Amino acid sequence: MKRLDFEPTFKCWRETARAALSAELSPEAISWSDGEATQLFEPMALESNQTRYNVPKRFMEVAERVVCHRSQGRWDLLYKVLWRITHGERHLLEVFSDVDTAALYKMDKEVRRDVHKMRAFVRFRHVVQEEEAWYVAWFEPDHHIIRINAPFFVDRFAQMRWSILSADECAHWDQRHLTFTDGVRREHAPNRDEVEELWRTYYSTIFNPARVKTSAMLAEMPKKYWRNLPEARAIPELLEQAPKRVENMIKASDAKQEAEIGKAVVPAADLDLESLKKAAAGCEACPLYRNATQTVFGEGPLQADIVFVGEQPGDQEDRIGRPFVGPAGAVLDRAMMEAGVVRARCYVTNSVKHFKWELRGKRRLHQTPNARDIEACRPWLEAELRLLKPQYLVCLGSTAANAVFGRPTKVLQNRGKWMESLYSKQTLITVHPSSILRARDPEQQEKAYGDFVNDLRLLVR
Ligand code: URA
Repeated sequence: MKRLDFEPTFKCWRETARAALSAELSPEAISWSDGEATQLFEPMALESNQTRYNVPKRFMEVAERVVCHRSQGRWDLLYKVLWRITHGERHLLEVFSDVDTAALYKMDKEVRRDVHKMRAFVRFRHVVQEEEAWYVAWFEPDHHIIRINAPFFVDRFAQMRWSILSADECAHWDQRHLTFTDGVRREHAPNRDEVEELWRTYYSTIFNPARVKTSAMLAEMPKKYWRNLPEARAIPELLEQAPKRVENMIKASDAKQEAEIGKAVVPAADLDLESLKKAAAGCEACPLYRNATQTVFGEGPLQADIVFVGEQPGDQEDRIGRPFVGPAGAVLDRAMMEAGVVRARCYVTNSVKHFKWELRGKRRLHQTPNARDIEACRPWLEAELRLLKPQYLVCLGSTAANAVFGRPTKVLQNRGKWMESLYSKQTLITVHPSSILRARDPEQQEKAYGDFVNDLRLLVR
């Protein structure tokens, strides 16, 4: 085995990987060394190579985040996945049950979560430097995310001069240039200032007593961040007042909710799918966006002949931001494969684009969307279907059937036969794949799965 030395940046990894691919070096033949791990093997020099490999865009997006993961194994894993994609397994990233794909998505998820945490928990402190106001924050990321996250802070705090310090790397913004310097020790960050009082007041006003779950709070806001959060000092008092405030909120909430639920406003016509997706990312038409991590929009090619509509994203979809990538997605993938339907050529979406859930213990339990949720979200589904004009439209389960037909539509009575809907002359209703997971026993499950595959076979006849 030989050692490949490279700078631990995405650009450098990509160039080295390209050279390794063109030298036909298999993943087993090399060990990636970014200088941090022990250097066991003999180094090997590779000639730089400009060969372009046709790799799915999704891989590059995921890889750019995964290089930020702190695990040493990320370089080997990335190359292994890249090797497989370029050696006959182009759709590897859609095989969610594959060990390498799953490991890659796990790292991706951890990095994204860390990015999210940094956005939520960075608190600037006011200092005066050479008679200029400067805002400085200390942050302890789990992964190497300072660089990929810095543009977010530039956008958000463009009018401030600021530095975000960490032990890995520091980012600085002087209202014009974003620069990076080496990491520093915690003592370099200022501790306390007058901006803190402002933060505490702000936090007290946005603090929602009805959502106080101490364990969930700790999971979301690990103690390691507390010492950097001025508002942490306000928490005990706020917790004490919480029950009374909840009571008042419940009284006020019902009427307010009614008034609040609107309908998604889809931007003017002629948008493409990508612009629709961007617009939907900011949708606040109903309250579901508040508890969801992100809008999960549909995905797949505009030319797709077959469109699948599900209910709403589940827990994993909510975190990853893509439809049908959790357990129900695995059933759907398997069934599609068995029926001869290629997922990469289909468009997959949901009737409701935000995850609706309630907390039970430590789990976020799925809640079925109601008619108002479906109604509020319908403009997005309609806009997708108008653009896609599917030859075949498949409703997975009753929420999808209700959304597509615009009225209560029974699944078991109508499954497995072609029907006409507003969006496609050939609309098919079948069960939702998660109903197969809920079957009472293995026999029932096998039967339900077989029936589901048979329904999907109608798409390839
Ligand atoms: N169930 C759905 O209906 N959609 C998803 O994306 C995941 C689970």
